[in-house]
Amino acid sequence: MTTSIMILGCGNMGSAIAKGLVKAKRHRDNTLILYDIYPDKARYLAELLNIDWVSEINQLDRPPAYIFVAVKPADFPDAALLLREWHESVFFSVLAGMEIKELTSCLGGTRKIVRLMPNLCVEVGEGVIPTCFSPSINAQEREDILFLLASLGWVFESEEKEIASLTALGGSGPAFIALFVEAMMDAGVYCGLPWEKALKVALQTVLGTVVHLKESGMHPGAFKNAVASPGGTTIAGLLKMEDGGFKASVMHGIDAAYRRASKTTDRE
Ligand SMILES: NC(=O)c1ccc[n+]([C@@H]2O[C@H](COP(=O)([O-])OP(=O)(O)OC[C@H]3O[C@@H](n4cnc5c(N)ncnc54)[C@H](OP(=O)(O)O)[C@@H]3O)[C@@H](O)[C@H]2O)c1
Repeated sequence: MTTSIMILGCGNMGSAIAKGLVKAKRHRDNTLILYDIYPDKARYLAELLNIDWVSEINQLDRPPAYIFVAVKPADFPDAALLLREWHESVFFSVLAGMEIKELTSCLGGTRKIVRLMPNLCVEVGEGVIPTCFSPSINAQEREDILFLLASLGWVFESEEKEIASLTALGGSGPAFIALFVEAMMDAGVYCGLPWEKALKVALQTVLGTVVHLKESGMHPGAFKNAVASPGGTTIAGLLKMEDGGFKASVMHGIDAAYRRASKTTDRE
């Protein structure tokens, strides 16, 4: 049976989800349709991916079974007005910081809501996708939804109270990793390499380290010790990085993202 899937909001995250579903070819079992308040965005992406789009919600014959809502939280109340009549649809929210109870109250009445916190790596099928469900979603529906989301990366059920931490670590994480890769590339350039070669080496080093850590199950500290021989070049580099507070800086950065995601400033 085909499931109709709408992506509402074709910005960074909506586009990444659409591209991920198309890449995984999971959309072939489904009808995928795009909508954005700015129609050119939906049209451009739909043409790129060879899928459908609408310029107005009321152009649809019937409500989609699944709706990925990928607008900024501040735009959600307006978007919800468009969706209030669709009582049978399952709403997938990627909105940072908005709990299922707030989403439900904006949409009105009992709704089927999936709250997920993906990151932009869903575009290449390597996302991290913590997921929680409103109680109105039954076991079979959960199974079908997890199957669909698995095409976008590593999906797992989570408690809503963990979502703020997972937003800081997984949702924002690609930006932190990209900053680190950029710093490695700049360092390579500083040491005399052309930026293209420095970037390639930085990327392959990050990839190789990640694959090694995943496959070996080693603690990152033990792997670091294996690279850093006594009195060698690596330990000299590590000392300089710790002089600059590298590890504390990363930890404080992720904590700041966590505080923002949980909307609290008073946690000690
Ligand atoms: N980016 C990430 O890495 C990331 C990670 C995890 C979660 N998220 C969540 O994903 C959501 C979207 O973030 P984003 O980075 O993709 O933002 P974005 O690039 O600004 O995309 C949002 C899109 O929704 C459109 N829009 C606004 N109001 C609408 C409405 N009523 N109906 C239909 N479309 C509407 C916007 O159009 P206009 O530009 O014309 O206003 C824009 O194209 C946010 O809630 C964020 O918390 C993002």
